[in-house]
Amino acid sequence: MTKNILIVPGDGIGQEVTAVGKKVLDKIAAKFGHTFTYDEALIGHVAIEATGNPLPDETLTKMKKSDAILFGAVGHPKYDNDPTAKVRPEQGLLKMRKELGLYANLRPIKLFDELLGASSIKPEVLKGADILFFRELTGDIYFGEKGRKNNGDTAFDLAEYSRYEVERIARKAFEAARTRRKKLCSVDKANVLETSRLWREVVQKIAPDYPDVEVEHQFVDAAAMILIKDPRRFDVVVTANLFGDILTDEASQIAGSMGMLASASVGDGTGVYEPIHGSAHDITGKGVANPLASILSAALLLDISFGMKAESKTIISAVDKVLKAGFRTRDIADAQTPADKVLGTSAMGEEVLKHI
Ligand code: IPM
Ligand code: MG
Repeated sequence: MTKNILIVPGDGIGQEVTAVGKKVLDKIAAKFGHTFTYDEALIGHVAIEATGNPLPDETLTKMKKSDAILFGAVGHPKYDNDPTAKVRPEQGLLKMRKELGLYANLRPIKLFDELLGASSIKPEVLKGADILFFRELTGDIYFGEKGRKNNGDTAFDLAEYSRYEVERIARKAFEAARTRRKKLCSVDKANVLETSRLWREVVQKIAPDYPDVEVEHQFVDAAAMILIKDPRRFDVVVTANLFGDILTDEASQIAGSMGMLASASVGDGTGVYEPIHGSAHDITGKGVANPLASILSAALLLDISFGMKAESKTIISAVDKVLKAGFRTRDIADAQTPADKVLGTSAMGEEVLKHI
């Protein structure tokens, strides 16, 4: 197959890990006889520095034209402590999601057995945990009207959902549950929020279309607790944008580290594949960032956007072998890891390449 992949490294460690993800794509192309062509584009802080715009038009045009996007991260500490900044890196990310119609964010939480000890949760609670989150990505409090009133002394963010927005993500989650353990948990706050009551109503209404899937509803506070207490209880989880943002960071600890988790954002247009970790400026430029989330994002890209199942499995099994061989980046190493097995970003990438 011939495919055109847009590389959008963004900010901080996004640059370092995406370079490794791209090498893995290259190796797959060589092994399986595909032709991948690449282009690059700017987003986030680096785009603001270069053009004044966190999502330049040129980037958006390239995104719409490509077959898939391998994405890094956006963010810069300089904005985090400046709430008055009008132009922010994250605006680029949110606009991209909206413009490309990426309403479904898939975040698979799967623990590689070798990393049982890397989590702060007890191994006996964790073993076998395997959750697929469907986070709604283009609605909710993220995209509603926001502003100030009372001379700036009062602020508001409107949370809004329409029936069709809930239905399309819920259907995707139901369909995914069918291919897994056939359990779906819908997470909301229907005891308090009107948007959540609509959410629950829609999920209940379409549930009869999937009689083979067992549905449960949990309030978000309870779901946050169950994730740590008994993560194996969940199979597919579907939830709104803000709840999904928070719960998936929490759930990353089930996989040992944020540095392990990949995600896919799909919907109407080109799919975007990215690590769930951020730009991590505290470790940027040190060559220690874990590239496995970007590598696993490349695996998701091949599987979901190109339907290349064998290619995707080859990557996942290469990662598994590298972990079995004892190699770790700093974030997933523990006291027992011998010093010579603790690798930097590119050395870890090289180990994975050897097994493809
Ligand atoms: C994520 C991130 C983003 C979000 C930020 C960077 C705007 O936390 O992708 O989870 O909140 O969606
Ligand atoms: Mg987040």
